[in-house]
Amino acid sequence: MAKTELRGSHGPAPDHVLTRWIGIENLARIGVYEKQGGYRSWKKAMTELEPAELTNEVKISGLRGRGGAGFPTGIKWGFLPPPDGGPRFVVVNADESEPGTAKDRYLMENNPHQLVEGILIACRAVSAQQAWIYIRGEYDLQHLAVQAAIDEARAAGYIGEKPYGVDFPVDIQLFRGHGAYICGEETALLESLEGKRAQPRSRPPFPAVKGAWGRPTLLNNVETLSTLPWIIEKGGAEYAKFGTEKSHGTRLFTVSGDVRKPGNYEMELGRPFRDLIEGMAGGARPGRKIKAWWPGGSSAPVLTGDLLDTPSDLEALAAAGSMGGSGGVIVADDTRCVVRMAYRLMQFYARESCGKCTPCRVGGNWAVRTYERVLSGHGTADDLALFDRVQSGLAAGRCLCGLGDAAGWVIQWTMARFREEYEEHCLRNECSVEGGGRAQPLPSTAASGDLPPPEGRKLAHA
Ligand SMILES: Cc1cc2nc3c(=O)[nH]c(=O)nc-3n(C[C@H](O)[C@H](O)[C@H](O)COP(=O)(O)O)c2cc1C
Repeated sequence: MAKTELRGSHGPAPDHVLTRWIGIENLARIGVYEKQGGYRSWKKAMTELEPAELTNEVKISGLRGRGGAGFPTGIKWGFLPPPDGGPRFVVVNADESEPGTAKDRYLMENNPHQLVEGILIACRAVSAQQAWIYIRGEYDLQHLAVQAAIDEARAAGYIGEKPYGVDFPVDIQLFRGHGAYICGEETALLESLEGKRAQPRSRPPFPAVKGAWGRPTLLNNVETLSTLPWIIEKGGAEYAKFGTEKSHGTRLFTVSGDVRKPGNYEMELGRPFRDLIEGMAGGARPGRKIKAWWPGGSSAPVLTGDLLDTPSDLEALAAAGSMGGSGGVIVADDTRCVVRMAYRLMQFYARESCGKCTPCRVGGNWAVRTYERVLSGHGTADDLALFDRVQSGLAAGRCLCGLGDAAGWVIQWTMARFREEYEEHCLRNECSVEGGGRAQPLPSTAASGDLPPPEGRKLAHA
């Protein structure tokens, strides 16, 4: 495991960048937000700093995208070509569809003005006068909260023709998402925003060069943008003091699953996951042990329970064999069958495949049917090889977007790290976790719970 030095020089870890004001009554109202110092960074961005200086501050901060890939935010901003007089856009990824992730909704619900202020700063930095927030269709409350914040900011003149008297007309509009996981993938999101079916585009060109309606577009996640008011207020160098050498600042984690206190917790990057899972989220239920956990949403490779001391920075996670992903930490204790969990996740990825790439469209369903056969007590040694074949056809960048990779990793890493459970199911048709003996039948609602073994194959337990 990589050794990680925290860089925080402010005494105890700050843990209060994004959530510093959350808990103050009526923070979603503009007057309360302003009273804390809200919109001061927007004023600074308009009256004291040039757009290039804003980008530079973000580069200095070392902030990395919180949507999944962890790409350095300031560097991404620098990819937009110089203004040519035509339209340019900021697009906010508020789709938040990664399983186990609910931190963007928390930010939108509890501090919508922080997001609005962050979006405005990004608009100024890349000279975009129109921002779109692509918000997950199911997020009703959050939609209302953000719309109310936009309306208040417009009435106060922060959004409009001449914020702070500067000739920079800027507007923000909300667009409700279309209810599919793929809509969170940046290029599929842009297709959907343009009124088309959400399917990924091939890259290059990247959205910075050719994004919404073919124009230069900056696309960032809600949490990424919500961090900007703090960075512009205090300076990039101040932010860079927190975290590790390569993963600066804090992150808002969602902890779900078999813990006593599931919820959203902000933590300095580099602190061990044990602080988050056992400390903040209360650890396993009484008498239970954490067996498996996904550190970055279900699309990140699963880790075993003995790795809770892994530091939370992106480099340490990569060294441990996983990734930071969306920051959704899913915890499973020793009452869960890993094969059954993998099956549940594969159902999700198979159903959510947009169908554009063949490995993803075909492989996901193939895997689901294999899991159903195995979990129905009809597994054979051949199924181990079959799982392997399907995962290698899915993962390793064979698809246009990361959905195929994620589906492949579910099989690959649950099998690599919990091989004995796959062998129990496939070789002996047993499950030592659930019921301690014969594999339990799938619920009768499962698509093909009674699926017979393929022709000519001998049942291992027959
Ligand atoms: C299948 C798939 C789903 C995704 N869903 C989301 C999502 O719901 N929210 C999000 O911010 N990023 C999501 N992403 C990542 C985005 O494509 C993109 O990298 C991110 O929004 C960029 O913002 P950032 O640089 O601020 O992280 C998804 C990626 C894939 C491959």
